[in-house]
Amino acid sequence: MTTASPISGRLDNVESARAEGRKKIDWAFEHMPILSSLREDFEAEQPLAGETVGMALHVEAKTAALVEAMAAAGAEVAITGCNPLSTHDDVSAALDAHDNITSYAEHGVDDEEYYEAIDAVLAHEPTVTVDDGGDLVFRVHEEHPELIDTIVGGTEETTTGVHRLRSMDDDEALDYPVFAVNDTPMKRLFDNVHGTGESSLASIAMTTNLSWAGKDVVVAGFGYCGKGVARKASGQNANVIVTEIDERRALEAHMEGYDVMSMDDAAEIGDVFITTTGNRDVIVDRHFEQMQDGAVLANAGHFDIEIDLDALSERADSEREVRDGVREYRLDDGTRINVLAEGRLVNLAAPVSLGHPAEVMDQSFGVQAVCVKELVENGDDYDAGVHDVPDELDRQLAAIKLDAEGVELDEPTDEQTEYMDSWQHGT
Ligand code: NAI
Repeated sequence: MTTASPISGRLDNVESARAEGRKKIDWAFEHMPILSSLREDFEAEQPLAGETVGMALHVEAKTAALVEAMAAAGAEVAITGCNPLSTHDDVSAALDAHDNITSYAEHGVDDEEYYEAIDAVLAHEPTVTVDDGGDLVFRVHEEHPELIDTIVGGTEETTTGVHRLRSMDDDEALDYPVFAVNDTPMKRLFDNVHGTGESSLASIAMTTNLSWAGKDVVVAGFGYCGKGVARKASGQNANVIVTEIDERRALEAHMEGYDVMSMDDAAEIGDVFITTTGNRDVIVDRHFEQMQDGAVLANAGHFDIEIDLDALSERADSEREVRDGVREYRLDDGTRINVLAEGRLVNLAAPVSLGHPAEVMDQSFGVQAVCVKELVENGDDYDAGVHDVPDELDRQLAAIKLDAEGVELDEPTDEQTEYMDSWQHGT
């Protein structure tokens, strides 16, 4: 029993929203050669005929390209958002107009509506789940375990989701196979690094209309996302300060030439703070106390728990929206602290945010598409638990992309291959 999609009924002018959404999806597809090529093959081969794909992703134009590739492959698709603020309603409406796609995603939902939409997707009884953050998998296990038998497997897009699934797997609580899409090179080395770096900086710059040049930018976490953010901020002439809790990552940041210090020390220096840790309570009450007037705070990690906004709100004498997507907290000494996008991931949840560039999502969603196909065709080969993406699939996608970009690479000679495979050659 499926629930009627709310999106088409809620929009004032659904036809014009659909048309706008359609334009955005077409533009994205044009810049996504991997997905375009997969869609063509899928249309011809129908590898997902008879399957139902349930998805909880950031519903914007590039995601829509993945959704349409799934539908072109013969699947029925039900989708909702994976964050209350990242849905583009026009894209959601354009998707919902498709015969085989139902979109429950809406911008600005509250917690209850968010989980109602997840349940609505699950009411389609998906045979495959596609997650960004793990909410579908967790909901299936907690609220709808009767679906587990007919689910062939799932895929997970982001670091935080993979962490949660691995914990579940360690506790033997994960009852179907899930591909850790996040961890495969074609995703993590590009999406987390370049995608998060470029789109977070672009979103912060557009939301504030302020320059990076000469700013002290504090990047919390020097993982894949933090590296990208730090490198791109540095490239825009900011002075980058990194905070870490991991010795090797801190050392890496130091050797890259960034100032590395504790958040306690960085708090009074930073003009802009960007959290990329996937952890909680990274910027907390004692840090707000030290901050300079006008400090800008943004989060690029998956959940909105990296900056303790409850503590900030409690400390503040007053709060107001000073620009679209910028909330100013005025402390009793007059210091103003500006938080972007309610502390939710800034590159997707700020009003002007568009998420990662299309070329980057082409890779991430190309991986998603081939993983869904792999689960449908060879799901029996995978036990319940978290699985790496098969390396040959990852490499095939790289080859498609290089071809589309017109980039040539060398082929090893037979002698080189033999040499690389041999342990007998020495000095
Ligand atoms: P990662 O595991 O490579 O890096 C996280 C880093 O943060 C680690 O080096 C860790 O030591 C450090 N860290 C943890 N707690 C810390 C603390 N209290 N202070 C300072 N550093 C701390 O993870 P990755 O791939 O960089 O992802 C980070 C987060 O970003 C995750 O939540 C992930 O889901 C999310 N993400 C967001 C994207 C976006 O579009 N905004 C795209 C991809 C991932």
